[in-house]
Amino acid sequence: MTDSINWQPLLDAAERVALSAYAPYSKFHVGAAVLTEDGSVFAGCNVENASYGLTVCAERAAIFTAVAASPNRKIRIKAVAIVTDPPVPGSPCGACRQVMAEFGIDAVVSYVSASGRVERAVSELL
Ligand code: THU
Repeated sequence: MTDSINWQPLLDAAERVALSAYAPYSKFHVGAAVLTEDGSVFAGCNVENASYGLTVCAERAAIFTAVAASPNRKIRIKAVAIVTDPPVPGSPCGACRQVMAEFGIDAVVSYVSASGRVERAVSELL
């Protein structure tokens, strides 16, 4: 399932963008990198808000950036790498899973679980 995915550039991009996270409330810095069908990589970090409800997760920020950069077509997601700083377990939230499903139900998501880094299809996560 994951044979064709070169994770290292995605993990590197996610790690880099996690440094940009705006997380003064949770202090939990998250970076995500999305690989689209045409081989492009888009990164995003979490951006918190004092209301908390308006916080946007790293995964959705990355996907929204990919959409904004792709006029006149629907993007297809192949993979999403998620990095936290420091690396602690954290699987994508329900809202992010739903947004991933919109653009790639078969995409593979890599994140740190209690048993280490895992890869799961979006369809499995939902
Ligand atoms: N967060 C993400 O960006 N992605 C996840 O997968 C889990 C949670 C963010 C939202 C919030 O800024 C902080 O992590 C704590 O929940």
